[in-house]
Amino acid sequence: MYYPDDLVEEIRLRSDIVDVIGSYIHLSRSGANHIGLCPFHNEKTGSFSVNGQKQIFKCFGCGVGGNVITFLMKYDNMTFPEAIKVLADRAGVALPEMEYTAEEKKQNQLKQQILQVNKEAAKYYYSVLKSPNGKKGEDYLKGRGLSDDTIRNFGLGFAPHNANLYNYLKSLPEKYGDDVLKASGIFNFSESYGVRDKFWDRVIFPIMDANNKVIAFGGRLMSEGAIEAGDKKIPKYLNSPETEVFDKSRNLYGLNIARRTRAAYLILCEGYMDVIALHQAGFDMAVASLGTAFTSGHATLIRRFTKKVYLSYDSDDAGVKAALRALPILKAAGISAKVIDMRPYKDPDEFIKNLGREEYERRIENAEGSFFYEIRMLEKEFDLDDPESKTRFCTEIANRILRLEEEIERNNYIEAICTKYNLSVESLSKLVAKQAMKTENMEPRPIIKSGIHDKKDADKLDTAKRNTQKTLLTWICDEPEIFDTVKSYIKPADFSGELYIKAAELLFEQIEEDARKINVAKIIGCFTDEDEQTEVASLFSSTKLDMSDDEKPEALKRLIIKILEQVAQRINEAAADGDIEAMSRGFVIKQTIEKLKKTDLKKW
Ligand code: UTP
Ligand code: MN
Repeated sequence: MYYPDDLVEEIRLRSDIVDVIGSYIHLSRSGANHIGLCPFHNEKTGSFSVNGQKQIFKCFGCGVGGNVITFLMKYDNMTFPEAIKVLADRAGVALPEMEYTAEEKKQNQLKQQILQVNKEAAKYYYSVLKSPNGKKGEDYLKGRGLSDDTIRNFGLGFAPHNANLYNYLKSLPEKYGDDVLKASGIFNFSESYGVRDKFWDRVIFPIMDANNKVIAFGGRLMSEGAIEAGDKKIPKYLNSPETEVFDKSRNLYGLNIARRTRAAYLILCEGYMDVIALHQAGFDMAVASLGTAFTSGHATLIRRFTKKVYLSYDSDDAGVKAALRALPILKAAGISAKVIDMRPYKDPDEFIKNLGREEYERRIENAEGSFFYEIRMLEKEFDLDDPESKTRFCTEIANRILRLEEEIERNNYIEAICTKYNLSVESLSKLVAKQAMKTENMEPRPIIKSGIHDKKDADKLDTAKRNTQKTLLTWICDEPEIFDTVKSYIKPADFSGELYIKAAELLFEQIEEDARKINVAKIIGCFTDEDEQTEVASLFSSTKLDMSDDEKPEALKRLIIKILEQVAQRINEAAADGDIEAMSRGFVIKQTIEKLKKTDLKKW
């Protein structure tokens, strides 16, 4: 869904950034700004600053910034349209209705009704748990160490053996029809028995989506008896089937809470109890894929929240297998993963109970990178005392190293693996090169250590250049009086990169129209990607120049020269490739620089 720019701007104008952010975190006034603890990284002193005048925020600790829309996108991990919707509702601005076909309308209505039914059902199970009839369930949960707060936060409930959710729902004024109740998946409809509750004599775990909507349920048996007797017909956990509102492979248990964690990563585990035990111990970043293997749908979902995952799967063979399957899926989604070692305990729930939160914290710190974990598991398949088997192991390592994209990454891993397995760097490098030749359509990559981290150096250089450009843009914003001088030397196209150019164009346009109406937040609103929004915000919130008015003209002159020199350098590179036009433009710029050096800029 795309909204017209004007509408986006109107919604933004009606959503004062100090009000909106202030409703999420505590802000206190400090001069022109409002300061608070940054919700995007852990800190004890407030480096998070909201500027009501510019309508932007910026954290001087972790660098994140943007306008009110960016804040919601980041804080609640919303998409751009979702953030617009929330702000529009808040400000009372009507959004254009989407066009639905009759079929879509019907389906939408059914979804809404199922969600309603689920919500009522969750309330029912919770109130039963809290009633005398729920003692068995409450005893069970308490017996597993859960506190009242935890039970409430996760909305845990109880379906007694005589549960009658069906009658309860039928007694409500909404008069839910059987078609809706059937579609909810929490009843069994049969010719011979009629309608029965799906869940009975089980504790209930409502499954919520990231927006706190109850989309399904899991129910756990309270006695291990049937399980121990090997009665396969009675599963330990019974889950809702997939329905209109529940797609197993696209939802993660606990994400509704974990999405607000301050941690920069998520912990991925296997079961309901693992998530709950971790949260109770303070690890509010734990989630689980439920009753199903980890899928790329899960990975895509995670990717919206973080690029870093710690796996805390069961330490038994099944858990290791599941982890080995999940790792490549995470990697393919651009998520880096580490694996937490929970031995000698089976799962996070048991681990926390026995060794406590500090020890778990230590295990997180010592978690193993996915590459080493995979190699260590692979090692088990080989007999390293047998030379032939060891060679095959090394060949497999070489193949895996080849899959790494960056040369520096490959070299680092070669070194680390060699140290760990006592191999020679030279021979493993050769093996990698040999395997590279074998692989079809693949250029043999040079594996020789260069020792120079070209990319990092280039990045550093870029940062310096970019800071110069940021200083100028922020200065124009704070003191539009300098604009006339600036514009006679620098055009938007002189900034580097598409994003800077577009932002500069928008700023220049605004000032040409009316210098009193510079609107940084609006410029940010022209970018829909949150990383871009942060970058644009940083263009206009660079550190303030601390100097007297007399010093300013000289400082501005130096700044303009610096940027022109950057332009000249870029043109030079193009000219070196034989671009005639670039050569003549380069000449003009050099002349301008020389002239400017001899000129004193006027005070404004
Ligand atoms: P586990 O058997 O490891 O259970 O299954 P657990 O989470 O440790 O549960 P407790 O501690 O015995 O209560 C891991 C997950 O696999 C799914 C559930 O989501 C469970 O949390 N599962 C397991 C089922 O869906 N059905 C089953 O019969 C068993
Ligand atoms: Mn368990």
